[in-house]
Amino acid sequence: MMTATPIVQAERIVRRDTRHGKTLLQPTDFALAGGDRVAITGPSGSGKSVLLRALALLDPLDDGRLRWHGRAVRRAAIPRYRREIAYIRQRPALIDGTVEDNLRYPFSLRVYRDLQFNRAAVEMLAAHAGRDAGFLERHASELSGGEAQIVALIRVLQLAPQVLLLDEPTASLDPESALASEALITAWFDDGAAARAWVWVSHDAAQAARVGKRQLTMRAGVLSAAASESLTAVPISKESAQ
Ligand SMILES: Nc1ncnc2c1ncn2[C@@H]1O[C@H](COP(=O)(O)OP(=O)(O)OP(=O)(O)O)[C@@H](O)[C@H]1O
Ligand SMILES: [Mg+2]
Repeated sequence: MMTATPIVQAERIVRRDTRHGKTLLQPTDFALAGGDRVAITGPSGSGKSVLLRALALLDPLDDGRLRWHGRAVRRAAIPRYRREIAYIRQRPALIDGTVEDNLRYPFSLRVYRDLQFNRAAVEMLAAHAGRDAGFLERHASELSGGEAQIVALIRVLQLAPQVLLLDEPTASLDPESALASEALITAWFDDGAAARAWVWVSHDAAQAARVGKRQLTMRAGVLSAAASESLTAVPISKESAQ
């Protein structure tokens, strides 16, 4: 396979809690190329969410830098950057209103003014996640934690980002709905013709094995290859078998 410029590349990025003088993310190098599917596991409090938020430039880096398609990300370009590299929060934040109101919300933002809400498209995404059209009329405050996760996922997928940073996106879902969400995310990935990539944080080892072509682990702010990687048979993907 040719070594293309990564979509996103982190060079010795660091996150600190300056108030308590604690380093949350030790200097970390990380590259994500088109077609990459990375799973990250690791104990609670080890820095998995801190890493994803740093990659999405939601929290300022304390050191190091990020490159997008080989170029440093300028401050003015951050909203545009976040459009392409979407962070799906561990605990989704929904606005007051219906599911449809929530799905329409991004289109009220400047950065998405070139796009238009497409009800048929979100109904299809909802159906893919096992929800009928009535789901769009539900009130956000009445949703279960898992349903809120599905809304947050559809809200991002309809915007067709290049990279998804998924922070335990199915943690509140029953196994069947979790598999439906996995299928939904995989459909987004397959639509991208190897130009898309994800980083998927999971506490579920079986899920991590399914969703990660590359397995990483986070421990005390240090990202490394998962110890079990060399012992686990990595399934040969369609692309590499050709
Ligand atoms: N903005 C912040 N300021 C100070 N400390 C923070 C901040 N964000 C996270 N932390 C701390 O950094 C550590 C790592 O947090 P993080 O949320 O990344 O853990 P995690 O690996 O995602 O855990 P979990 O699996 O429970 O979600 C924790 O000790 C947390 O309290
Ligand atoms: Mg977390």
